[in-house]
Amino acid sequence: MASVLVASNRGPVSYSVRDDGSLSARRGGGGLVSGLSAVSSEDSLWVCAALGEGDREAVRRGVAEPGVRMLDIDPEVYADAYNGIANSVLWFLHHHLYDIPREPVFDAAFRRRWASYRAYNRAFAEALAAAADEGAAVLVQDYHLALVPGMLRELRPDLRIGHFTHTPWAEPGYLRMLPEDILQELLWGMLGADELGFHTAMWSGAFMQGASFDNESGTAVPYFPAGTAWRGVEHRRGSGPGAQKRVTNVSVHPLGVDGDDLRALAHRPEVDARLARLRAEVGDRKTIVRVDRTELSKNILRGLMAYRELLTTHPEWRDRVVHLASAYPSRQDLESYRAYTASVVALAEEINAEFGTADWQPVLLSVEDDFTRSLAAYRLADVALVNPVRDGMNLVAKEIPVVSEAGCALVLSRGAGAYEELHTDALPVNPFDITETAEALHRALSMPPAERADRTKRLATASTALPPQRWFLNQLEALRGS
Ligand code: G6P
Repeated sequence: MASVLVASNRGPVSYSVRDDGSLSARRGGGGLVSGLSAVSSEDSLWVCAALGEGDREAVRRGVAEPGVRMLDIDPEVYADAYNGIANSVLWFLHHHLYDIPREPVFDAAFRRRWASYRAYNRAFAEALAAAADEGAAVLVQDYHLALVPGMLRELRPDLRIGHFTHTPWAEPGYLRMLPEDILQELLWGMLGADELGFHTAMWSGAFMQGASFDNESGTAVPYFPAGTAWRGVEHRRGSGPGAQKRVTNVSVHPLGVDGDDLRALAHRPEVDARLARLRAEVGDRKTIVRVDRTELSKNILRGLMAYRELLTTHPEWRDRVVHLASAYPSRQDLESYRAYTASVVALAEEINAEFGTADWQPVLLSVEDDFTRSLAAYRLADVALVNPVRDGMNLVAKEIPVVSEAGCALVLSRGAGAYEELHTDALPVNPFDITETAEALHRALSMPPAERADRTKRLATASTALPPQRWFLNQLEALRGS
């Protein structure tokens, strides 16, 4: 039994089966892993899904890390919930990724997938209900598990339930594309929580607007107690005499990075070695660095178009700059992601063919999941390009200023959550505007070193203001106090 529980689709460890049949475990990183390390593993439990065959085999053999519980969900149910709903519907809504003349299509097949999403959420709710101490705090993560708070509250009304959204939240006009019954189920699922967290005021505001309704399922209105900044949603489910009024608090916890940890990681010998190799490739040219999952919302194609426009309209940068781009594979089960990855590779090749010379390759693109190379590129960055169409936070925008050795100018999309904290010292861009992005790259490359260093220092301070452990503890304290 545990007094602090975390639930997320992807857990802190994944398994693969070696050729000799033994299991090898790989620990992941990320904000949640270091956040939860603020709590002793004896009192805590992390509930996550078994993602592949290796994980499933670990569950079958009863292999588990202390404090981690993997759920072996039926593979078809899982695929429909994860690929079919979480990544193809909820992710697309929150990031405005639909190609509107054709998508979305909410038909019978969608409703079958939604039933799988519901079953997958129920498996989490039941596992959490079975493992939580009386009055325990449960911190549920992200759009994969939006129905868990409501389900868990029904099973265990004694628990303190939080939910944190790591993505943007779609504004009502976009969110209301969902069929009305599904939209209501989603919102009531979230409103089962005592505390809802978002990375920015923009996303929490969008949630509060979307969660205002008055219909047969109940009523919900934004809640601002007089004289406090505290806010939330006041709601009453159903209309009968038994319908109880509750308040769900909505707050903003902008996740930052742990500067000491990150600098230590970036100065390991293997990163030094990789940095030396990259330096040899780049020579004395300037660098524009980007690091992303190959993800539709990251806007990698328009980033490359802006770089091409820079080389066209400011030919003085030819042979004086290298674009170091890491676009590592993600969600390759989805056809649109495979096609996007291929387009990114093709465009990088086109730019190299158009501008490259015998001793200058304008784009050095890596499509490997290679964190060592990314850290080496961070250290070498003169300019960081972070131009997502929309992004819950975007930690790359916060990591590069902390690690860059010469100080880097940050070209940052107004659609990134990080923009809310970093906009004064970044060069803001509209992610759809190639010309503005190309000009911002030019300004960034031309920025005087002293100004660049000053801005980088302030960016690094803002980026480390709320490191993961504090981020996590703040939410835990809010949950216990609410
Ligand atoms: C986003 C989500 C995370 C997710 C990550 C990687 O940042 O908010 O919950 O883990 O993308 O996506 P994946 O589908 O590979 O877990």
